[in-house]
Amino acid sequence: MKGIILAGGSATRLYPLSKAISKQIMPVYDKPMIYYPLSALMLAGIREVLVISTPRDLPMFEELLGDGSRLGMKLEYKVQLVPNGLAQAFVLGKEFLNGEPGCLILGDNMFYGQHFGHMLKDAVAEVQKGGACIFGYEVADPRAYGVVEFEHLTPTLSQGEGAAVESVLRVKSLEEKPAEPKSNYAVPGLYFYDETVCEKAANLQPSARGEYEITDLNKLYLQEGTLKVKLFSRGFAWLDTGNCDSLLDAGNFIATIQNRQGFYVSCIEEIAWRNGWITTDHLAALGKEMKTAYGRYLERIAAKSER
Ligand code: DAU
Repeated sequence: MKGIILAGGSATRLYPLSKAISKQIMPVYDKPMIYYPLSALMLAGIREVLVISTPRDLPMFEELLGDGSRLGMKLEYKVQLVPNGLAQAFVLGKEFLNGEPGCLILGDNMFYGQHFGHMLKDAVAEVQKGGACIFGYEVADPRAYGVVEFEHLTPTLSQGEGAAVESVLRVKSLEEKPAEPKSNYAVPGLYFYDETVCEKAANLQPSARGEYEITDLNKLYLQEGTLKVKLFSRGFAWLDTGNCDSLLDAGNFIATIQNRQGFYVSCIEEIAWRNGWITTDHLAALGKEMKTAYGRYLERIAAKSER
């Protein structure tokens, strides 16, 4: 499976912060925001990724991440001229996906919690059978999000390592930013699709607000009866970075976890190494290049040498 990170838009809610620079390149504590969604794709085992952004910002992502070879990955880049909707990722990404299934993650969505890797790999396996898989996350006020309602809310817990994760459920309804939500489950910006996704995205019409909506794309799978949803459990963190307060909160959250445990969150070099995509020597060399605590961390885990 291939992955797409959508990291465009103008982030006007962060002005003046985002007036001259991409939101998704801003720091969330000790690393650029895009590291977090990139790490999610890597945890799903996705090694080929397309980064989509504005003509202004794309070169900066290219400078930051390069062709991906330093992580044992393949990264490509594509401009989105007008921010006219999330579903456009699959129009712009058609050539890149080349008829394969795809995962889309928004460049400003951050996830952290136990068993996340298992949950992602389950979603990959799910859509390899066909259809789409989205996620549900309970929030107090879901009106600013896509909202998902299920067939029933008494799922059995899945067995084994994914036990923090509820089993796959069938979707009853989906709505984008409803004034009166039918459930409290928001749909995070992380979506897995089978190989029919580009064809479906190409046939969408713009919504009343003039955007090609990801919720409309998901509704096509819903109508087909192939849309599944997995729920994040209550101990799981899905963090928002939409305004200055939530950006600061996200940074503080990451700092708290990292400083308490000593493990870094969304450290892309560490994940590449644990996935077996780069050698221990290469990891140590990447650490040496940086005169920061981040660099020392890479050297420290390389010295321990057990993945
Ligand atoms: O964060 C999850 C939510 O993301 C979902 O629950 C909603 O269903 C989905 O529509 C989306 O809602 P937002 O209101 O957060 O979407 P927004 O327009 O803010 O775009 C999300 C990110 O994607 C943002 O960082 C900018 C970027 N973007 C957005 C659009 C419309 C692009 O790169 N290109 C675009 O065309």
